[in-house]
Amino acid sequence: MARKKIIAGNWKMNKTPSETVKFIGELKPLVANDDVEVVLCVPAISIIPAIEAAKESNICIGAQCMHFEESGAYTGETSPAMLKDAGVKYVIVGHSERRVYFAVTDEIVNKKVKKAFEHDLIPIICCGETLTQRQQGITIDHIRQQIKISLLDVSAQNAKKAVIAYEPIWAIGTGKVATAEAAEEVCKAIRECIGEMYDQDTAEAIRILYGGSVTVDSAPELFSQPDIDGGLVGGASLKLDFGKIVNYKK
Ligand code: PGA
Repeated sequence: MARKKIIAGNWKMNKTPSETVKFIGELKPLVANDDVEVVLCVPAISIIPAIEAAKESNICIGAQCMHFEESGAYTGETSPAMLKDAGVKYVIVGHSERRVYFAVTDEIVNKKVKKAFEHDLIPIICCGETLTQRQQGITIDHIRQQIKISLLDVSAQNAKKAVIAYEPIWAIGTGKVATAEAAEEVCKAIRECIGEMYDQDTAEAIRILYGGSVTVDSAPELFSQPDIDGGLVGGASLKLDFGKIVNYKK
């Protein structure tokens, strides 16, 4: 069965709740495309108004992070049950900015992934190499390690539902997009790694996105690669042009 593409926006720390509601109202008619799952990962404070604003559209709302504990003394954090109760479907886990600024490790990513599935949330698991790792020729080794730890003790049934976002760190927010060929090489290697960890069925089902400076111009070639099932889009998802990325085929 063909994998349905996902085009997800990662808004990071941008837009207030009222700006969010206005933007989603304007974006709705531009992304009415049933071939693609459209996800907007908004700041925690905007999740509830965003879900309300996205009603009767094909936009679903995701979160940018989540704690792996059920509840407790974790000031400032959001729990998986809170996200689920609010109506969230997807949650980004292990974004490189969380890894760098908030000390998220592969082991923590694994805890979050397992917890997300317990609450019927779909994790968008981020991985990616630094420029140094790429120059040293250890990109694939590094990504394989990230994937193996992130999915440790995750069943095949859950792994099939997971989304992996390959985001080379040197491409995030830099305007330096990976070539379609380089992005495909890594996404293919990720699928092969999933095949080794699980089986062919799981490898064929899992969706793998590319992220890092995706624009209206670069999206069509990237998203047409055999192992790239869409994108995780940062900067370009903050403008209504995001609608053109969703409709990259038209
Ligand atoms: P960018 O961000 O598209 O602005 O490079 C992508 C991301 O961090 O998910």
